[in-house]
Amino acid sequence: MSTSDVAVPHYHDRVVRQFSIMTVVWGLVGMTVGVFIAAELLWPALNMDVPWLTYSHLRPLHTNAVIFAFGGSGLFATSYWVVQRTCRAPLFLPKLAAFTFWGWQVVILAAAITLPLGMTQGKEYAELEWPIDLLIAVVWVAYAVVFFGTIAKRTVSHIYVANWFYGSFIIAVAVLHIVNSAAIPISLTKSYSLYGGAVDAMVQWWYGHNAVGFFLTAGFLGMMYYFVPKQAGRPIYSYRLSVVHFWALISVYMWAGPHHLMYTALPDWAQSLGMVFSLILLAPSWGGMINGIMTLSGAWHKLRDDPILKFLIVSLSFYGMSTFEGPMMSIKTVNALSHYTDWTIGHVHSGALGWVAMITFGSIYALIPKLWNKPAMYSVPAINLHFWLATIGTVLYIVAMWIAGVMQGLMWRATEADGSLTYSFIESLKATYPFYAMRLAGGAIYLTGMLVMVWNVWKTIGPASEPQAVAAAEARA
Ligand code: HEM
Ligand code: HEM
Repeated sequence: MSTSDVAVPHYHDRVVRQFSIMTVVWGLVGMTVGVFIAAELLWPALNMDVPWLTYSHLRPLHTNAVIFAFGGSGLFATSYWVVQRTCRAPLFLPKLAAFTFWGWQVVILAAAITLPLGMTQGKEYAELEWPIDLLIAVVWVAYAVVFFGTIAKRTVSHIYVANWFYGSFIIAVAVLHIVNSAAIPISLTKSYSLYGGAVDAMVQWWYGHNAVGFFLTAGFLGMMYYFVPKQAGRPIYSYRLSVVHFWALISVYMWAGPHHLMYTALPDWAQSLGMVFSLILLAPSWGGMINGIMTLSGAWHKLRDDPILKFLIVSLSFYGMSTFEGPMMSIKTVNALSHYTDWTIGHVHSGALGWVAMITFGSIYALIPKLWNKPAMYSVPAINLHFWLATIGTVLYIVAMWIAGVMQGLMWRATEADGSLTYSFIESLKATYPFYAMRLAGGAIYLTGMLVMVWNVWKTIGPASEPQAVAAAEARA
């Protein structure tokens, strides 16, 4: 029996719509905070002496908002859409799926209140205090039940590769979060990690690196494996490669965490192990990138007039770039130069702006008209404009940080013949200012693109959308 003989089930898309809207909303909020803290680095007085507006309080708000609120909502939305379509089954326990939506929004609101107030466990990307951590664990287990329950009641025998990536992301994030967040509470708003010293650092960066590997990579690869072939109208380049890619990626990522702790109290052998696994990681990462990009072979012309496809393919190029850069930065001698500098920030944002956010934009643009039963997005030229603003913004941001980072690393290590430092720290900071300005410009351009998206989504699905969407589709036809 072919899949076309199976009646299309009634899918549960309300939760997909809710998460899609919140992806756009949190994207706008998270990036606005990003631009604000970028401005604070240039003009510290912008905090206006209000404690919760200081850089140190808003920086974790930015990272949590863009990774967990924007990226997380995009992952929930697309995984719920993809798992239903590829399993030809409606969501398992739709009420539990609704709970994951409201539960996740409560987590985000709690983060948005507690982080500016300075309540934090002090662990990067795991700052939230223990009551919020408990809620995250409950929501995440509910997510796993809905996702794997849907896979269990699928009406096709095959489990499409996108679901393998989403599934590994869901399981890994549960394990990472529960182990790394283990803490002893001393009050409602303060707790201390169960681990101490170098063990605490190792557990934290095992978590931190795999948050990159599974939250910021595996989940988005799930998106890639569904939306790139769909948008290109072609099957994935090599299904065999996608299976090799999956197993290689998830087995290697788990071991690379120590590259965040080079030249620390962590045993030397663990640092070297982290370095070697990071170098190996280049192969599966590029395997995935090549598989995605080559899906377009024979259909490259589609890139010319489909800006959604442009987002998807350019995101893969940035994925390839950041996963080449990462292994290089893991080499101990390179890390000796790059660590503590803005080079790391450049690397982060080539992955974050170029890969994570762009693949999300492409996927959400592909989803929105389908979710609201519209012929297309309200304005295709606006998607194109967003694409160019995002690309130019990303390039300005990362080039500024690369130059600043290498300059800082070289200035900090420069010594005179008598062994004294050639430059004071303040001199290196002064030299960095022009690059902070360039990064701010890049960020502001990127944010402008996000505003264009908000406008386009509003026009597509807002109260006055129906006739205009149809008119726009007719005008294009
Ligand atoms: C308009 C866009 C954005 C701007 C202007 C921006 C700006 C910034 C700034 C100024 C920092 C602090 C850098 C420092 O400590 O020196 C930062 C950190 C960070 N941002 Fe963004 N950001 C943007 C978008 C994003 C997005 C979309 C993501 C993720 C999907 C992201 C993820 C991060 C992460 C993970 C860090 C911490 C990096 C580290 O600790 O090494 N950012 N961002
Ligand atoms: C093969 C893949 C990758 C490897 C081996 C790798 C390696 C590295 C290394 C060596 C660092 C610097 C650690 C330090 O000196 O403190 C780093 C930082 C970072 N990378 Fe990657 N990277 C990879 C891919 C990515 C991707 C695709 C993203 C984002 C989507 C990403 C996000 C980050 C973040 C957020 C940090 C900053 C962590 C922090 O200090 O707060 N990485 N990575």
